[in-house]
Amino acid sequence: MAKDHAKNLPALNSDATYTLGRTSHETTRLIEQSRIYGPSTERLCKRAGISEGMRVLEIGSGAGDVALMLAKRIGPTGQVVGVDVNADILDTARQRAADAGLQNTEFIAGDARNLDFSDKFDAVVGRFVLMYMANPPEAFANLMTHLKPGSIAAFQEPEYTLYPAVQHPDTPLMNQLIGWILDVFAHSGAHLDMGIGLYRAFVEAGLPPPTMHLESPIGAAKTWVGYRYMATIFESLLPLLEKYDLATAEEVGVDTLATRIRQEVNTSKRPFFLPLHVTAYSTLPA
Ligand SMILES: C[S@@+](CC[C@H](N)C(=O)[O-])C[C@H]1O[C@@H](n2cnc3c(N)ncnc32)[C@H](O)[C@@H]1O
Repeated sequence: MAKDHAKNLPALNSDATYTLGRTSHETTRLIEQSRIYGPSTERLCKRAGISEGMRVLEIGSGAGDVALMLAKRIGPTGQVVGVDVNADILDTARQRAADAGLQNTEFIAGDARNLDFSDKFDAVVGRFVLMYMANPPEAFANLMTHLKPGSIAAFQEPEYTLYPAVQHPDTPLMNQLIGWILDVFAHSGAHLDMGIGLYRAFVEAGLPPPTMHLESPIGAAKTWVGYRYMATIFESLLPLLEKYDLATAEEVGVDTLATRIRQEVNTSKRPFFLPLHVTAYSTLPA
């Protein structure tokens, strides 16, 4: 069984500052985020072949959304072990699993790079987590040691380096938001190219080249949830935007941001893009 590593964390000095903070607002934001990115995570897990009865390791669980989706996919005969370095947020994940009546899910506090299990897994899954680690390929290779031969690796990470491609002279607000996002993640030490970087992580760990997809939630409808979601991203980013002197609360204007984005979509007749992300999966040699 999994051991709890919360009291024995290694120094994380060279990792990124967790850009989005560790507030209760951030927990809510993660749950909202999952409503938008969840369908592509589900497609990833389905395409990758994660199925009933499997034992799955899920890293960087956050509020538990990926683990909950996996728990339903693998059913009562399978097991999901979720890991997060933030012990507090796992209380939310555990409560949500209990509320959903899921008994095949366990969450442990610890660093995903420093785990010790007596049983191996059939799959490892991670969403928006490798980008914060100092050396993602090394962390990824370490995770593979917890898998049986023939197991599945399925990851989803943002690709910020391509985000400026959607900037346009008619969308100054979207352009500004993209600029701030790139700046704040770069300052925090996060890997802006983690989506594309998944390829390197997979092949350096000895896996076959992964099957990859690039996606971005794009919206233009008046009622699209993405405008409000972008405002919640900025609410989480604000402390670091201010700390790094990139923007002030007045400049960002979180309270009116969703409305202003929707207005820009209206006037520019161009849809609004949320951050792009890459999904990648592959199977270990049998
Ligand atoms: C952006 S959140 C994503 C949460 C979740 N995967 C989701 O998509 O809803 C990243 C999470 O990874 C966790 N994390 C970052 N570095 C970690 C590490 N080395 N080991 C375990 N968890 C880590 C953070 O604490 C945070 O909860």
